[in-house]
Amino acid sequence: MKERMDIQTPAEQLQGPAIRVQDLEKSYKKLAVLCGVHFDVARGSILALLGSNGAGKTTVVNILSTLLKADAGTASVNGFDVTKQAAGVRESISLTGQFAAVDEILSGRENLVLVARLRHLKDPGAIADGLLARFSLTDAAARKVSTYSGGMRRRLDIAMSLIGNPPVIFLDEPTAGLDPQARIEVWHAVKELAGQGTTVLLTTQYLDEAEQLADRIAILHGGRIIVNGTLTELKRQLPPAKVEYVEKQPTLEDVFLALVRDDGKHGDLGHDSVGSAQ
Ligand SMILES: Nc1ncnc2c1ncn2[C@@H]1O[C@H](COP(=O)(O)OP(=O)(O)OP(=O)(O)O)[C@@H](O)[C@H]1O
Ligand SMILES: [Mg+2]
Repeated sequence: MKERMDIQTPAEQLQGPAIRVQDLEKSYKKLAVLCGVHFDVARGSILALLGSNGAGKTTVVNILSTLLKADAGTASVNGFDVTKQAAGVRESISLTGQFAAVDEILSGRENLVLVARLRHLKDPGAIADGLLARFSLTDAAARKVSTYSGGMRRRLDIAMSLIGNPPVIFLDEPTAGLDPQARIEVWHAVKELAGQGTTVLLTTQYLDEAEQLADRIAILHGGRIIVNGTLTELKRQLPPAKVEYVEKQPTLEDVFLALVRDDGKHGDLGHDSVGSAQ
């Protein structure tokens, strides 16, 4: 058998999953947050990482985006090892953090132009205008971001993360605090991205968001991924409840709460337990 190599060749980089996480461990002093996290994300798919507050979702995202070093385990993004090939990872990703990173003093358009310039792209103005249109921000383009609503900021934040068309996008709670309409707009943008072949890893507290968007859903609990499967696979974990002779399918929320209460005795759901590229 061929010995596993940590660093892949360019051909292997294009073939494997967009994100591969194996045995990841991370503690903050005595607090063990990740205790052997495993999952893959196939290219062009959306994985929703669910978990309660403090489960370690942002920690995973920060490790994958090279902002934080894991204590043990390996992770690769777009074929690049997050520790040994951090520059390759950074070129392959964009990160929309849990808290919007837009500059309040600049206008929406200026924010976009700035990022396009920083990425040394040709015609930053045209890139900015295209994204403003795509995210329904054209009318507000010249206004200072400090006058934007939360939804507009979030949309601008996501638009900024698309500059340069990175193949892998991390969205850490992309719709936290948004009203239902703004959430739907963000969902549209995310779906469109995946439709174009971008790989998306998003974390969320909103179970309906995972239901709406994700190809696969992984639940992080107790430092591990306790399930990883499609929505249908997750729903199969619970039998339908009978209510006055009408079968009620469990919602993802029922599945989530039951599994979290169960404390991770389920394991992965798919045949390929880490959901590798299909
Ligand atoms: N720099 C740090 N130093 C110490 N503890 C930390 C640090 N960063 C995170 N933690 C702790 O690690 C745990 C996981 O945090 P993390 O932010 O990854 O959780 P999360 O799943 O993203 O939570 P949330 O849903 O609230 O965003 C929490 O208990 C948190 O307090
Ligand atoms: Mg978080």
